[in-house]
Amino acid sequence: QNARIKIDLDRTIGEVDEKIYGNFVEHLGRNVYGGIYDPGNPLSDEKGFRKDVLEAVKGLNVSLTRYPGGNFVSNYQWLDGVGPREDRPTRLELAWNRLESNEFGTNEFMEYAKLMGTQPYFAVNLGTGTIEEARRWVEYTNVASGPKYAELRKEHGYTEPHNIIYWSLGNEMDGPWQMGHLSAEDYSKKAREAGKLMKLTDPSIKLVAAGSSNFYPGADPMQWNKVVIDELKDVVDYLALHMYVGNVDDDYYSFVASPLVLEQRTRLVKGLIDEAMHRAERADRDPIYIAWDEYNIWYRWRTGDAMTGERALEERYNLEDALVIASFLNAFIRNSDVVKIANMAQLVNVIAPIFAEEDGMFLQTIYHPMALFANHVFGTALDVYVDSEKYDTGDFALGMGEQRADLKDVPYLDVSATYHGDEVIINVVNRHKDKAITTDIIAQEGAFTGEFEVYEVNGPDIKAENDFGKTNVETMKKSLKGKGDKITYSFPAHSFTLIKA
Ligand code: AHR
Repeated sequence: QNARIKIDLDRTIGEVDEKIYGNFVEHLGRNVYGGIYDPGNPLSDEKGFRKDVLEAVKGLNVSLTRYPGGNFVSNYQWLDGVGPREDRPTRLELAWNRLESNEFGTNEFMEYAKLMGTQPYFAVNLGTGTIEEARRWVEYTNVASGPKYAELRKEHGYTEPHNIIYWSLGNEMDGPWQMGHLSAEDYSKKAREAGKLMKLTDPSIKLVAAGSSNFYPGADPMQWNKVVIDELKDVVDYLALHMYVGNVDDDYYSFVASPLVLEQRTRLVKGLIDEAMHRAERADRDPIYIAWDEYNIWYRWRTGDAMTGERALEERYNLEDALVIASFLNAFIRNSDVVKIANMAQLVNVIAPIFAEEDGMFLQTIYHPMALFANHVFGTALDVYVDSEKYDTGDFALGMGEQRADLKDVPYLDVSATYHGDEVIINVVNRHKDKAITTDIIAQEGAFTGEFEVYEVNGPDIKAENDFGKTNVETMKKSLKGKGDKITYSFPAHSFTLIKA
């Protein structure tokens, strides 16, 4: 019997927010220096931006780009990175143990963001930084003229304000590894006051609180979320969550199911938000939304030297990783009512879809599902019925030293769908390692008609990687003809398929 996917346009979840196709530029390894920015390199433009890298970045249609960290931000003085280059100090960068020249800072990032066509999303330092430093940064970037820091920006050659709307109040403040780590209560107090000053400076900004990132033994991530939501529910617009997974035990079927844990965490946090809003009788304000503002696969370059210096976190990805990314994105779509921001971590070289050396670059496997979603999957998310064979994972490690999971009834087909204009966009990961799955796609009402665009990300086997001059995993364009209330399609083994019907 064929598997079945039923599409019902009346069963809606929420509007897909394009900000779920975000990314992240941290001052870490060769993400900025030697990644997006490489002055003097013949491949760079006159401002030092790598032209080949920028072209690849544009293909990701990045909606919202987080900057400048990450762990880096928790000891970052933003004033070091503005003004004449020759006056900018070199600092010891403690998060990733490198020297930070500060050659690239706020204004360089904003110039790059324009070239990318992305909205900026800044994180302030709530580790070693003060609430007044955070406020001054908003004044520098967003106030047109008048006060000292707005005038300073103008002196630096930027007459118009940058108008940065999205600001996160610190990074991973629940993690003991964070410089200036705080308890949930202390963090909430500091974030509340920082947010207050920042909003007094520019009331149009949106604030993101640091939710859970610490899933190491002994941590209580949901308790952290509960306190932060309770304390900041009338101040912030989003709660940031982070998640990295890894195939540490080389257990393919468990690994490709791991995005379901992100979905469980999403539902848990949604419950906490609903409960806090209900108790506070805050039905009159917009709900707090979830920002998955760091997610990816990260386990290979995650110990010892791989964590520091020039070449930190230079993870190389394979096909199974690309399937995990497609399923993360499916999970965001399926939770479109609450997930309104997501940022893949990160953009270039550092756990990234784009990998560059001095003389060229290539697209990693994970680039392809990301680019497909960000260029095609918009509109209203649909609650899709899926009937496919299932499996149990058994107990498995989710990532490096973090929590374990044990998932039951994982469908081989991982599906999301949206309705946009007069098109239905269906996104299907076939997790099966060896078998194509023949599937009836059934329209509950109306009919399919015509020739549909089909895109498939696949490769010779689940461990296939890309490299310089070697493309094993990529997007293939196919087509499909259909008429009537049912189309039948065979999803190849270990593939991601996007159908526009
Ligand atoms: O993305 C790499 C790091 O992962 C970020 O700096 C930090 O926020 C997280 O721990």
